[in-house]
Amino acid sequence: MWSLKQNPLTHLLYFPLRPPFLAHGLLLLVLWRGIRGEDKRPNFVLIMVDDMGIGDVGCYGNNTIRTPNIDRLASEGVKLTQHIAAAPLCTPSRAAFMTGRYATRSGMAGSGRSQVLLFLAGSGGLPPSETTFAKRLQQQGYTTGLVGKWHLGVNCEHRRDHCHHPNQHGFSYFYGMPYTLINDCVPGMGRDILADLQQTLKSLFLFLAIGLFTLVFIRACDLFDISPRLLTVLFTFAVLATVVWYVPFELLPRWNCIVMRDQEVVEQPMTVETFPYRMLTEAQHFVKRNAHHPFLLFFSLAHMHSPLFNTPAFAGKSRHGRYGDNMEELDWIVGELTETVDSLGLANDTLIYFTSDHGGFLEDSHPLIGQRGGWNGVYRGGKGMGGWEGGIRVPGIFRWPSRLAAGRVVDEPTSLMDLYPTLKYLAQDTRSDRHLDGHNLMPLLEGKVGRSEHEFMFHFCGSYLNAARWHPPGSDSIFKVHFFTPNFSPPGAIGCYDIFLCRCFGDHVTHHDPPLLYDLFRDPSELRPLSPETEPRYAEVLHQTAKAVERHRRSEHNAPTQMTWEKTLWRPWLQPCCGTFPFCGCKEDTKLVGNKI
Ligand SMILES: *[C@@H]1O[C@H](CO)[C@@H](O)[C@H](O)[C@H]1NC(C)=O
Ligand SMILES: *[C@@H]1O[C@H](CO)[C@@H](O)[C@H](O)[C@H]1NC(C)=O
Repeated sequence: MWSLKQNPLTHLLYFPLRPPFLAHGLLLLVLWRGIRGEDKRPNFVLIMVDDMGIGDVGCYGNNTIRTPNIDRLASEGVKLTQHIAAAPLCTPSRAAFMTGRYATRSGMAGSGRSQVLLFLAGSGGLPPSETTFAKRLQQQGYTTGLVGKWHLGVNCEHRRDHCHHPNQHGFSYFYGMPYTLINDCVPGMGRDILADLQQTLKSLFLFLAIGLFTLVFIRACDLFDISPRLLTVLFTFAVLATVVWYVPFELLPRWNCIVMRDQEVVEQPMTVETFPYRMLTEAQHFVKRNAHHPFLLFFSLAHMHSPLFNTPAFAGKSRHGRYGDNMEELDWIVGELTETVDSLGLANDTLIYFTSDHGGFLEDSHPLIGQRGGWNGVYRGGKGMGGWEGGIRVPGIFRWPSRLAAGRVVDEPTSLMDLYPTLKYLAQDTRSDRHLDGHNLMPLLEGKVGRSEHEFMFHFCGSYLNAARWHPPGSDSIFKVHFFTPNFSPPGAIGCYDIFLCRCFGDHVTHHDPPLLYDLFRDPSELRPLSPETEPRYAEVLHQTAKAVERHRRSEHNAPTQMTWEKTLWRPWLQPCCGTFPFCGCKEDTKLVGNKI
């Protein structure tokens, strides 16, 4: 795969042969085996979709959405049927994916209302002390690139310190959204960020404005004597409140929906319509540029997050409205990128991975568009619902033709956190300096072992451990214990339709004592809780999981949380901006897309 230019052998060949000749000979032999042998280090193309449900994909049972390219990856590689996200929301799930550790360890899970980063200009983000798989590979000589969504923070103290930026976390190249696609990015599509607060503030300011106007009017007409002082105080209050609270929300699209190339803001606000194609082009060019050198590409799609795209070539083509159209467009993009890898002759040297950051968003629909969130198949629950399976069981596909058997299916529990140790292993990085919660997947993927190393797995609602999974040795059972569950509303619904996204604290949850227990092997939809009468191992399961939770707690040395209001709310001096602050604005020169100078 590597051209002669990069080949360390060339240096040695031109090196005059002189004593100690033997040492050179041996070195040559070692290098040659390293380069030619089994342990040649692969490239990695990691494709992560945003908010896509496991039930949206053809090879996971959807027979009405066409996903031939994703299905082909599965039939040419290994398909995982119990691939679990470490959290049912973007920021914590991605933090865990990047670091190979539960998000609580890095402080990327929230205990209150804010469970994800809400503003690009907050100071929260993946702490510089955390190590990502990208950083490990970079240190192993890989060229590393992130194209797409990051959502793990940007700045700490000032506008350009970029302490949480992908470039600081091991990606030598970054093109994409430092934040995420949200409804606020497209006019008329609704609001995502503190929608209720935005609404309340709007009403409040309207009320204040009308009140002030009335008072001024009354005074002007001498109807009633109003002290000018009161008017001044009210006026000042209204202006201040507007500046501090209202302005951030009004300028939100401009501030959050931006595109960056490395350290520069190249587009603000982002033109959503053309974004998927710019991303694809960037990803393809990254692969082409690095075809002769081991590389890692993390292709982190904006797709399937609402407000969804509305691309003419795909609009109205699927059987599931705009959501289905977006799935089919996504599949096409996956196909194009795979084709780029294959046409460069890199298929056998490249491990392609496909997944989603968590399950589909059941509550998300729009009066004009209909379904906007994903479908989680037979699994109960979805995005933001703690440990319910629908929010955390996602597709997991690995294709690497020279090393992995085509068509293998693995039903054992695996985690998105397994990518870190797997990549580290394949890049021949043997250093270990911190506790990881993932395990190297290669023995399972290659069929060398039949059992997953994940005997226990923990599930979180915000920063609270709310459920645990136990796959007892020698048994097919997958026991799931829920210590508490978020309260669904309206009653009878699966999901938190009344508040849009479930919460994990206080009155928003129900604690179960004894805990709710299911066996996913027999009851994948978590519909029939087990009891001592129906499950002979009932007491043992509760005892073993309680002990495992206790062991987990003892292993925690959690960093302070990044999800406090103080760290997530907007601050002017942290706002990435092109042009003049606060009305930042610039357009990307699309001729430059894909051609990194
Ligand atoms: C396929 O996906 C669509 C869109 O999410 C969903 O509405 C439909 O129910 C799914 N079909 C099956 C058979 O799972
Ligand atoms: C890739 O590897 C497989 C298995 O080793 C082999 O059968 C196939 O021919 C190789 N493909 C290419 C394009 O070299």
